Amino acid sequence: MEKASQITPQLIEKLVYDFYDQIRTDNLLGPVFNAEIDDWDEHLPKMVSFWNSVILKTRTYNGRPVPAHARLEGLTKGHFDRWLEMFEETANTIFTPESANEFVSRAHQIAMSLKNAIDVQHGVLPGAPEALSG
Ligand code: HEM
Repeated sequence: MEKASQITPQLIEKLVYDFYDQIRTDNLLGPVFNAEIDDWDEHLPKMVSFWNSVILKTRTYNGRPVPAHARLEGLTKGHFDRWLEMFEETANTIFTPESANEFVSRAHQIAMSLKNAIDVQHGVLPGAPEALSG
């Protein structure tokens, strides 16, 4: 398939569905997601609306990502690194490098703020060994 430079709602949907298809079978991340998500038919449209809001500014997503992640036990930097690596791989199978980077750079920013917020919620200080940020 030719790589797309234009970001459309259809391709955002494809990105999300392809990404979680990969995630679900990943040795590190698969077990975390499969243990938490009972209903993928609910999670995937939510993630589509999240990425539409981030990239196309649709304002259709109104969830709260911080508590959703802060309550997951045993999340490590390694989980975030793997998430970002897989997201970058999937984005680059669909989009040209420049368009893929619009997603990837936002994902890195959001991951960093999620990690910071989770540390704060857990009362973990910056620089502590168990800190996700830093
Ligand atoms: C360590 C990597 C990650 C893991 C293991 C993870 C896991 C999860 C899980 C299990 C849920 C479902 C929570 C629930 O339904 O209550 C979720 C929701 C979500 N995740 Fe992640 N996630 C990760 C990284 C990220 C990153 C980097 C982003 C954004 C760039 C993100 C965005 C979201 C959003 C928007 C939701 C929906 C929250 C809501 O509105 O309920 N996640 N994640």
